[in-house]
Amino acid sequence: MKDASGRNINYLRISITDLCNLRCMYCMPQDGIEKKHHREILSLEEIYEVTKIAVDLGVDKVRITGGEPLVRNGIIKFIESIAQLEGIRDLAMTTNGLLLKEYAQELKNAGLDRVNISLDTLKDEKYKEITRGGNLKTVLEGIEAAKKVGLNPIKINTVIIGNFNDDEVEDFVGLTLKENIEVRFIELMPIGQASTWTKNKFISNSIIKDRISELMPIYDGDRHSPAKYYKLPDGVGKIGFINPISSHFCKYCNRIRLTADGRLKPCLHSNQEIDIKTALRHNIGDLRKLLEEAILSKPSQHTLNDLDHEPIVRDMYRIGG
Ligand code: 5AD
Ligand code: SF4
Repeated sequence: MKDASGRNINYLRISITDLCNLRCMYCMPQDGIEKKHHREILSLEEIYEVTKIAVDLGVDKVRITGGEPLVRNGIIKFIESIAQLEGIRDLAMTTNGLLLKEYAQELKNAGLDRVNISLDTLKDEKYKEITRGGNLKTVLEGIEAAKKVGLNPIKINTVIIGNFNDDEVEDFVGLTLKENIEVRFIELMPIGQASTWTKNKFISNSIIKDRISELMPIYDGDRHSPAKYYKLPDGVGKIGFINPISSHFCKYCNRIRLTADGRLKPCLHSNQEIDIKTALRHNIGDLRKLLEEAILSKPSQHTLNDLDHEPIVRDMYRIGG
């Protein structure tokens, strides 16, 4: 369905859990998180109900996120049920990849189309540092497994952090030379944990892009994609730049988010949330109306660059990227 600015909202991003098997520094507090009471988190059946209505309202693209979606029990059956909804054209997942080796085949069989994998460094020690304990080798094996079972196209999401991994840009770009993957550089956003980070950690993607002079622009046919794509002259894969800060893509934004605790978020960069859990549990008849309201109330653009921008209080692990 169309929102108040005439944008067709056809993309639902569902965070199915706040829990994660990593503790990335920009995403999660160091001491970990307070485990929510079971009742506070939507059941997978409830999420399915919401998705069904969203699909009825015109959503044809769904992404499952977290926290880390693969740590939630029942994930395979859930994917299967969503994949079978009539009208779903694209079913994807964002994962840190740690459990992909184990689950890739089952996910593919269940009807998942593809995966985006979050990976900020190709160095063992640095990976351990930024994720507070993760094992890089396990992720790389997960990526191989995803490739092998055909969860294509495989996209790698890399958040560039000043003085941490900005020296690895060339290595990431190099991955696309022989492999048919998409590496996408994402500007660090001042959200949650990262909202108090110092300015020198935020590097504009235009600086990163200018460092690699061989890049040739390509158009990938999806104007709703937040990424601008390039390739190396002899490269097989693609390189994307996602610039949520420096050039916002609000005009083409087609998405709405559902959090694990049952709130709709019309815009990532706004604190506005619409509680649908109560309706879901007590008065299911109102659910469709609430979804429509959420879509209609989607702001026409974010206010990140405004002086009076309100910081986003929800940490990323509770939004889903
Ligand atoms: N800025 C940019 N990207 C972020 N992510 C998490 N927090 C931030 C942030 N502050 C990314 C993760 C992952 C996705 C779920 O969101 O790296 O790719
Ligand atoms: Fe987990 Fe992703 Fe957050 Fe890292 S960025 S702690 S992998 S949810």
